[in-house]
Formats: sequence, C-alpha cells, structure tokens
Amino acid sequence: MKFYRQLALIYLTLSMTGGAVQAIEQDTVEDLLRQMTLQEKIDQLSQLGIQTTPTGPVIDYGELSPAPINTVGSVLGAYGVEQTRRLQEQAVNQSRLHIPLLFAFDVIHGYRTIFPVPLAEAAAWDADLAYRTARAAAVEATASGVHWTYAPMVDIARDPRWGRVVEGAGEDPFLGAALAAAKVRGFHGAGPPDRSFMLATAKHFVAYGAAEGGRDYNVADVSERTLREVYFPPFQAAVAAGVDAIMPSFNELAGVPLHSNTALLSDVLRNQWRFTGLTISDANAVWELSQHGIADVPGDAARLAFNAGIDIEMVSHAYRGFLPSLVRNGLVPVAAVDDAVRRVLKAKQRLGLFADPYRYSDEARQRASVLTPQHRALAREAAQQSIVLLKNTDALLPLPKHLRNLLVVGSLATDAQATIGPWSAQGRADDSITILQGIRNAVAPNTEVVYLPDASPLSQKVQNLPAIRQAAQKAQVVIAVLGESADQSGEAHSRADLGLPGNQDVVLRALLDAGQPVIIVLMNGRPLVLSENVQRAPALLETWFLGTEMGSAVADILFGDVSPSGKLPITFARSVGQIPLYYAHKNTGRPPREGESWVSAYIDTPWSPLYPFGFGLSYTTFSYSTPRLSADRIASTDTLTVQVSVTNTGQRAGDEIVQLYLRDDVASVTRPVRQLRGFRKVHLEAGETRSVSFTLDAQDFALLDEHWLPVVEAGRFTVFVGADSTTANQAWFDVTDSRALSETGLSRPP
Ligand code: GLC
Repeated sequence: MKFYRQLALIYLTLSMTGGAVQAIEQDTVEDLLRQMTLQEKIDQLSQLGIQTTPTGPVIDYGELSPAPINTVGSVLGAYGVEQTRRLQEQAVNQSRLHIPLLFAFDVIHGYRTIFPVPLAEAAAWDADLAYRTARAAAVEATASGVHWTYAPMVDIARDPRWGRVVEGAGEDPFLGAALAAAKVRGFHGAGPPDRSFMLATAKHFVAYGAAEGGRDYNVADVSERTLREVYFPPFQAAVAAGVDAIMPSFNELAGVPLHSNTALLSDVLRNQWRFTGLTISDANAVWELSQHGIADVPGDAARLAFNAGIDIEMVSHAYRGFLPSLVRNGLVPVAAVDDAVRRVLKAKQRLGLFADPYRYSDEARQRASVLTPQHRALAREAAQQSIVLLKNTDALLPLPKHLRNLLVVGSLATDAQATIGPWSAQGRADDSITILQGIRNAVAPNTEVVYLPDASPLSQKVQNLPAIRQAAQKAQVVIAVLGESADQSGEAHSRADLGLPGNQDVVLRALLDAGQPVIIVLMNGRPLVLSENVQRAPALLETWFLGTEMGSAVADILFGDVSPSGKLPITFARSVGQIPLYYAHKNTGRPPREGESWVSAYIDTPWSPLYPFGFGLSYTTFSYSTPRLSADRIASTDTLTVQVSVTNTGQRAGDEIVQLYLRDDVASVTRPVRQLRGFRKVHLEAGETRSVSFTLDAQDFALLDEHWLPVVEAGRFTVFVGADSTTANQAWFDVTDSRALSETGLSRPP
C-alpha cells in the first residue's frame, strides 16, 4: 500500500499541472507492464463472473479454472460497498503488484431506482431525459462500488419476436444514435476524477437484432449496406461520445461470428472508427466459438477471439487457459497482449483506482445516493414521458378521479416485478408502485376500486368468467391491465406468437361483452400483435415496463394529471406474418397500395402497420402548417432551414414530438421512402402556435457510395414534417451538385 500512498501524494501534489500527472500515470501503466509476467498480463484480460442471477448457460470448462480474485483483471456481478471493498482488499493486498480490480455490472435502466426499460424510454424521444436517467443510475451504481456498466444496449431491432427488443431504442438508427450518445454522456457525467463517473459499454456489436426468425443468438445475414446504414450508426454515435468499451454480439454475420470477426472488430472498429477503448466478449461467447463450428478446441477459440480484437474474455477461461502457450508458440503476438493489458490498466487509471482502489466503495455515499426522493421523482417523470396513448375513442380518457366505482382486472396490475422489467440490476420489486396501487392512490377516497387478478399472461386457465362479467357490468369503467410478465421478453426470451399470452384475450372478451367502457393498459417488453378484442376497446395505453414509479405514472396519465406525449419508437404490426415491418422501408418496383393488384402487399392482411413508428396521441390535438423551406435549391455545402408552425387546437396544454423525415427521391442506390432526420418536443398551451425549425445539411442528405464513403448526390429531396412517420405534410427541394461529404467540411458523427 505504501507504493500507492506515495503515488497518491505525487498525484495530489502535481494535480495542478496536468501534463506531469499524465506523465506519472503513463509511467505507472508502463511501469506495471514492464514488471508483469505473461500470466499476470493474461489474468488482467480475464473477467470473473460472480453474479447471483445467471446471465447465461452454465458451461463445463473441464479442468480449466478461473483466474483467482487477486490476479483477475475485473469482476462481473459484484456490487455494494461491503462486497466490493472486501474483494478489492483481497486483490490489492494479496497480489504481487497490487493491481486493483474493475467491478462491472449490467446497469441498463437504473441501479436500485429503476427507470423505464430502454424501449419505453425511447418512446419519450428525449435525449436530455436519457442523459438524466443514465446519470442517476451512474450516481447510484458508483456509490455502490460499481466502476463499469454494460450499457447502453444500442442494437437496432426491427423484429419484435426477438426478446431483446426491450433493451434497445427500437427500429430507427437516427433516434437510436441520439439516445446512445446521450446515455454514454449520462454514465460519464463530469468524467474523471468525479467518483460518479462510470465506464460505459456500447453493445452488442453488431446486427444482433437481425437474428433470423427473431430467435435470439440466431444467424444475422444482412447486406453490407444495411449493416452500415442501419446497425452501425448507434455504435458510431457511442464511439463519438467517448464510450469506453464495446461488446461484440453472440451472432454470426455472413458466416463469421462477431467474436472472431477481425474485419469488424479491428478493421472497422479500430482502424476506421479509431476506437481506442476496451473490447470485452459477451458471457462465454469466446468459449462458444466452438459451438459455431469455427474452433474445435477452446485454445483455438482463444486464438481466434484475441487475434480478432477482443481484449477481455467474460466469464469463460479460454484466455487464461490457452493464451500463454499461444503467445509462447508465436500464434498470438505478445505486443497485442501488452496493448490489451494497457487498455485495461488505463481504464483503472481513469477511475483513479491506482491512487485509491477504494474510492468507489464509500458507505456514506452509498447511503446518501441510492433510491433518493429525487431519483424516484425522475423515475416518475421518465415513466410519464414514456407512455404512448394509442387510442382514445370519444375522449374516454382522462378519467375523473371521483368515479363511483371502477374495476381493475389483470394479474399484471399487482405484479411489482413486472414494473421493473428485464435487467433490473439491484432494483427491488417491493420498492415499486404497482398499477393498482397507483390507481388507488389517485382516486377520490370514496371511489370504490374493485380488483380481480383473473387475467394472467402466465395461465391459460379461464375460470370465474361469470363473476368477472358481473363485476364489469357493475363498474362505471373497467381498466384491464394486460400484456407480458417481466420474463416474457429480454435475453433468450423470443416469442413466435406476439398475441396476448395466457388467458388474457378470453377474459378481455368477457369484459368487453359486459358493455361498460374498457380501458386497456398494456404492460409489455415488445410490440404485441393486438387482437380484435384489444382493438374493440375504446382506449388503449402502451405503458411497457416503466420502473419503480410505474403505478404512479400510469395513474397520472389515466386521471389526467399529465397528458400523454410518448411516440412509438418501433412499429406495431397487424400480424406476426408481416414481420419484419418498419417505416424506413424501400419503395420496391411495385410499391404497396391498398386495394391494388400486382403490388407488394398481402392478399389476407393489409400491408400497413396497425400503429406506425412515431405514432402517439395526446389529450389535446395539434395541427401543422405546410413546411416552409429557406430555399428550394441548395448546393451540397449549404444548409437548409425547415420551419413548420404547430398549433395546439385542443382544450388543454400538451407536449408534441414534432418529427422531420427526409426522402432522397432518386439516387444511385435505392433509398428508404423516408428516414427520420430530426425531432423536437414542444410544449403548447391550448390554442398556442409555435414555429419549430430544423436545420439540415449534407450529413442529413448523404448516402454511402460503393466504397462506403458518405457522399451527397444532386437531385430532388422530399421533406416531411408531422406527428408520425406516415405524415403527408411535405415540401420539396433540390440539391444542385454532388460531392463527398468530406469535401463539405462536415464531419459530425451520425
Ligand atoms: C449477457 C448479455 C450481455 C450482458 C452479459 C453480462 O449474456 O448478452 O448483454 O452484459 O451477459 O451479464
């Protein structure tokens, strides 16, 4: 410990002159590297998994053993001041070089205060909100000893059968990129040496959401163009925002597993994007290269993964078991091992762990930072903003708080675990406000709230229907809370049938047949295929899994304290047979037109979605003027201003997420019929009109040429501005010349 005390003294003394400190820090890393044995280096590239809830299958590693706690580089699944301090003491005091541990954990949408699942929060279309919830999560996690989160998950998903759609920001690269960057900045905060600075990881690189059949871990086979135009942008935005680590995905891409994909992990990530952070495998994914059939022994898997560009092996022990001999046999360059270890040590240095290995394990800070009233208030705000009103016939919502009685039906209404959804870190179900509690808290004291749990996503059994129908007949209003349980989406929880699981649809029919107004509150981790019964209901709220304050936020919307403003970040198909279905589709040579023959459509189902990307209603209404453009012809180096006047034409204030889409009408390659290129949330009082303007430039018009370089091509563009991705509110302009984006002086990340 003497060494670190001296170092801390030097660090503090010299902290006035940054350069000198950097020199000291650089020396520390190089000094350590010079002293480390090959095995010590390789143990720094191993990560020990000790999490109590498994995040993957149990694997037999044969005679291989994990690196011991006092030489392993990092630990997955340790949290809390007591545990992290104890493990850190072992590592620092019982090792030859006293190298501190990194503690990593999946802090995806909150640590103890749980915020809406990422797909829900994406419905708020609010980068500032995404920043604030990530910041709050980082404050809580770092106060509890966690240095590193495996978030944000930035996988674009256009197939809701895939269980992990819940963890990302939906189907659109532009929205996904904006939120990815905000999350990275949120986890970072003021950055080192602030103790609430947390390392962030963009995952899972790449095209994991393109799994065939929506089946998790399955093959993804996308074109190079789709890969670069759809799946890359959120990762590029995360890298540009300074993300500290990248985690490859389990899938293969065009025959090459991502965990042995040199072209993507080294050529693209390191050489093209200049990413200098860490790469860490997914759980056991190095070991599983043998399952892919490209490695016949774990040693081969270790060689392929490391040489492809994966610094750290998570949980499995192929690196520890085989890299030493691979280096000695010249199959893995020792210089590459040094580079990887250097990145690990630098991460520890950025966190200030060489100066003080225990600075993140502070009991007083943990007590003061976790589940605070401020964080609960933020959780409630985020939940309110994430709710999407899909239907509200005859303005049935909002409900008055002084009803004589109302009936709440559905086991999900009291399912506290469901409120926090998958990947809930240290969130506790009993911290949560359930939907039933939220309703009870909101209504007038003399309003009778009757509750029947009978509709369940987990049981096909239907009983008690007469009693349910009778209760519904007596109620002024019925609130049916339907959807999925917390573990019917998430990793390894793909579904082939996207209808309401269990007995819910049958119970819903009984409720509807009773004749009283039925409001459906959906709790789900993915777009569902909404049955005819669901579509019979006069009001429909999409509330996803909203976190610790879910019940309060749902009640805030149901009873009108807050007007809903969320917009769908992902398309809701009419049938699972339509999937994949997304707004930024190509026109084809025979574009789909309802009622026409010989077009790209179905003979048994309308081709269009039930609810499109960007759709969401409010308790008020809005109108849009035709877009006004600053010019109708511009050079590729010019900017274009698009203005639109938005009016609140209803009787109460509300927030509207104004969306701007662009279409390149004719280009050297086919282009989507529209692509999101701007969004802005505006608050308007009843009757108020506001001018909203967007500035577009070559970055927005560019496409990738055959060498995957961004270029602007001369030609006509259509700009759409409206309330969702189907808006026909449009204007046109021409770009007069073609040039490479690099020649326009623009180089901001996507
Ligand atoms: C899981 C997930 C990954 C997570 C990791 C550690 O398999 O794919 O997202 O970060 O294991 O829990």
